[in-house]
Amino acid sequence: MSLSIPHGGTLINRWNPDYPIDEATKTIELSKAELSDLELIGTGAYSPLTGFLTKADYDAVVETMRLADGTVWSIPITLAVTEEKASELAVGDKAKLVYGGDVYGVIEIADIYRPDKTKEAKLVYKTDELAHPGVRKLFEKPDVYVGGAVTLVKRTDKGQFAPFYFDPAETRKRFAELGWNTVVGFQTRNPVHRAHEYIQKCALEIVDGLFLNPLVGETKADDIPADIRMESYQVLLENYYPKDRVFLGVFQAAMRYAGPREAIFHAMVRKNFGCTHFIVGRDHAGVGNYYGTYDAQKIFSNFTAEELGITPLFFEHSFYCTKCEGMASTKTCPHDAQYHVVLSGTKVREMLRNGQVPPSTFSRPEVAAVLIKGLQERETVTPSTR
Ligand code: ADX
Repeated sequence: MSLSIPHGGTLINRWNPDYPIDEATKTIELSKAELSDLELIGTGAYSPLTGFLTKADYDAVVETMRLADGTVWSIPITLAVTEEKASELAVGDKAKLVYGGDVYGVIEIADIYRPDKTKEAKLVYKTDELAHPGVRKLFEKPDVYVGGAVTLVKRTDKGQFAPFYFDPAETRKRFAELGWNTVVGFQTRNPVHRAHEYIQKCALEIVDGLFLNPLVGETKADDIPADIRMESYQVLLENYYPKDRVFLGVFQAAMRYAGPREAIFHAMVRKNFGCTHFIVGRDHAGVGNYYGTYDAQKIFSNFTAEELGITPLFFEHSFYCTKCEGMASTKTCPHDAQYHVVLSGTKVREMLRNGQVPPSTFSRPEVAAVLIKGLQERETVTPSTR
């Protein structure tokens, strides 16, 4: 067995720093999330996408979780502009894709269309409530979508995380150098607590390597900031993981909180990075009570193993059981819930922000120390992040 084949068969490469950007006479301003999508398209992380979705692909993705040609794709990757901007653009135009005054890419406009956002919200997010952070962002976007192939002409500044950014071609190379034939991808937007560690290590019992791939793109305000999380991952790996079996690299996409649909998307992207397996635990990419605990696992049954091309590894709700005296899950522990150490994300964040150390059965003390220090420093600088 060898590393997974990229989704759609070929790793897309739309990176060309020599592209003649002056041929593009129009300009489109990107949001931060669109900028990360542009770079992920350009480097092949979103293979087989070569650009922002055209209407035919958008409709197919929203309605059928597939591109117009039938390839599995569950989240619309779109570029939104205002009506005013749209009135300046025409199909066939090339537009510079600009963020913060810099040109990062060029789009060859193939389509300009008005999405039905309520339909998109209901089908992709399973709700059109604005209380849902992904739905709110969808409705905050301008109302016209522009589709077409893109070329990435400038890479984003990776700042302090630079050593942890890898393009799919690089991770594939590194996994091969490490001699890994099977690699499990792990998505997270949280610190790695004992339950996460448990399911990762269960997976490590059956595959060659773990690609710990925390999402560092836009998240909702009360999630733990990525820089603090990054430090916590390093401390955890240093103390509790075999060095030669884990590879830490960041995922720069924005979080959509689309639960089941996002689980499929997360799996396809990790396949492009070279993973053969992907962990889906409880309420993957969920928020609030919008999704059933295992909906993000059930959704995989809509597709064949061949279509997916990556093996999802499903895990039940995991926790420390004081009777078992070890980590367990609802699948392996016979004891009553009163023996299970279960804390909600909100509760843990509140504890950490107040300087309270969660039990070591919930979080490794080294991890808790990094989080408390980071959050307390952050609070004194920007109290509004609460
Ligand atoms: S996510 O939004 O990135 O999915 P999180 O970082 O909490 O959120 O989860 C990362 C992965 O671990 C997901 O696959 C999630 O389902 C899984 N997971 C988180 N907590 C648990 C738990 N207690 N038991 C089993 N799986 C879990």
